[in-house]
Amino acid sequence: MIQVKDKIFKRYIDNSAIQKRVMEIGKQISKDYAEKSPVIIGVLNGAFMFLSDLSKSITVPAEVSFIKISSYEGETSTGKVKNILGLGTELENRHVLIVEDIVDTGLSMVHLLDQVRKKNPASIKTVTLLHKPDALKHQVVLDYVGFEIPNKFVVGYGLDYDGFGRNIPEIYQLTT
Ligand code: IMP
Repeated sequence: MIQVKDKIFKRYIDNSAIQKRVMEIGKQISKDYAEKSPVIIGVLNGAFMFLSDLSKSITVPAEVSFIKISSYEGETSTGKVKNILGLGTELENRHVLIVEDIVDTGLSMVHLLDQVRKKNPASIKTVTLLHKPDALKHQVVLDYVGFEIPNKFVVGYGLDYDGFGRNIPEIYQLTT
C-alpha cells in the first residue's frame, strides 16, 4: 500500500510485468513498421515513462516527439479536452503512431486523432499502455493495448493523481 496525497493505493501491476509487456509491444511495432520509419508522438505528461521504455524496444528508425493536452483534474474526467500543444511536426505522408498512457473515456484520443488527421499523414495508429473498456464513451480504434484494466483509478508509471505519483515505477490502484 502507498499513499498519494489523501488516497491509499494498492500495488496492481509490478515493474517486471510492465517491462515484459512493453517489450512485446515494441517488438510488434518494429515488425509492423519495418521500412516505414514512423513518427512516434507521446502524449504528455502521462506517456513520458511508457514512451521512454517503449522507444528503446523499437528497432526501426523512428522520430520521437511529444505533444501535450489535458482533460483531467483530480480523479474524474472533466469531459473537456483542452488545446493540443506541440503538434508542429510535419506529418504529411508520415506514418504516425500516437502513444498514450491510458484511454479512459476515449475523448482525448478522439480529439487527438481528429487533429492529426488534418495534417494528412500516410497512416495513423494508436498505442496505449492501459485501457479501461468499461469507461469508454467514444468510439476509438486502439491498435496496441498494454493492459485492459477495470474502471478504477490508477497511478504510477507516468500516471498521476492530482500531479503526484507519476514517478512511481509500478502501477497502483485506488483502494475501495
Ligand atoms: P480520456 O480522455 O477520458 O480517455 O482520458 C485520458 C486521460 O485521462 C489520460 O491521458 C490520463 O491523463 C487521464 N486518466 C484517465 N484515467 C486515469 C487514471 O486512472 N489515473 C490517472 N489518470 C487517468
